[in-house]
Amino acid sequence: MKKLYKCLWILLGFLLNEEMARGQEENAALWGTPSESSTYAGSEPKLALDGLLNSWSHTIKETDPWWRVDLLKVYRVNRVTITNRPGQATRINGAVIRIGNFLDIYSNDICGVISTLGAGATVNFSCGGMVGRYMVVHISGNQKILSIAEAGVYGNLAGNRAVGGATMQSSTSADWFSEKATDGNRGLQQLNTGCSSTLNETNPWWRLDLHDVYRVSEVVITNRKNCCAEWINGAEIHIGNSLENNGTSNPICAVIPDIPAGKSNNYSCNRLEGRYVIIHIPGDWKILTLCEVEVYGYLADEG
Ligand SMILES: *[C@@H]1O[C@H](CO)[C@@H](O)[C@H](O)[C@H]1NC(C)=O
Ligand SMILES: *[C@@H]1O[C@H](CO)[C@@H](O)[C@H](O)[C@H]1NC(C)=O
Ligand SMILES: *[C@@H]1O[C@H](CO)[C@@H](O)[C@H](O)[C@H]1NC(C)=O
Ligand SMILES: *[C@@H]1O[C@H](CO)[C@@H](O)[C@H](O)[C@H]1NC(C)=O
Repeated sequence: MKKLYKCLWILLGFLLNEEMARGQEENAALWGTPSESSTYAGSEPKLALDGLLNSWSHTIKETDPWWRVDLLKVYRVNRVTITNRPGQATRINGAVIRIGNFLDIYSNDICGVISTLGAGATVNFSCGGMVGRYMVVHISGNQKILSIAEAGVYGNLAGNRAVGGATMQSSTSADWFSEKATDGNRGLQQLNTGCSSTLNETNPWWRLDLHDVYRVSEVVITNRKNCCAEWINGAEIHIGNSLENNGTSNPICAVIPDIPAGKSNNYSCNRLEGRYVIIHIPGDWKILTLCEVEVYGYLADEG
């Protein structure tokens, strides 16, 4: 009898968890930043996110038109909805829906294709948890127009908490800005254009403000590819709530011995708690270059 109760209890817990996971689903597109390949007569890309069926985004007639929403954080996408405009319903024909972390449209994976859709009709595409920061709709070919009445992207925030956080670093080499280490993309760093870097200095540091206190389970660091992989050696990962000494007084999660060029290493932080994640190389004549910093964990007040 006791066993039976225990079974029921576990089942109930499981169902409640599932329900909560579903409950967190949100239309991430509403908080995103939309753009399109071209804009015809004031039909701005945001008109596909205004909840109104009598307004729509609209490109000019061109080759390979597209519309994209940057969700600003990485989502696990369950479904995408597209609502066609009333009238001129064929301007959605052949539209391809992609999801991924690439700013480049065609590098992202395909969730669905709209062959035709009735005027004013809505279609649901199940994307089965595809992960990405961008949702793109595009039509291939010459002399095409892409017009969207409404678009929705439903899903949950995927694990990486770093995307959308505020970044800073002790100094910046050319255009190797601090935020390039949290562009949500390990893959665009082939030419190192998606990496941050400080100048050659004493005690360089890079800092991420997560805006909330997290219990951090892992930090994943991606190293640069083309040269100088050894520059990262000896970097410390600090996590905590203090800004003392630029954050380097916070507890250390890990010290990086080395990371092979272009590779991503995973450091386990054992639920170290903090709002700030700091990467710091102690010593003189150091350069801190980061191609991606990902932070995984849970909000501290979510237990
Ligand atoms: C799309 O899916 C959602 C959630 O499952 C459902 O509520 C909605 O009715 C669906 N819409 C269409 C047009 O199928
Ligand atoms: C904080 O970082 C800046 C920039 O590198 C440096 O000038 C300053 O001395 C640092 N402050 C402390 C207390 O470490
Ligand atoms: C980091 O490593 C742990 C243990 O191997 C693994 O469970 C986890 O999925 C990894 N995390 C990421 C983001 O790769
Ligand atoms: C920084 O500059 C010094 C002096 O020129 C040099 O010895 C050192 O190798 C440089 N550091 C890096 C990481 O390139």
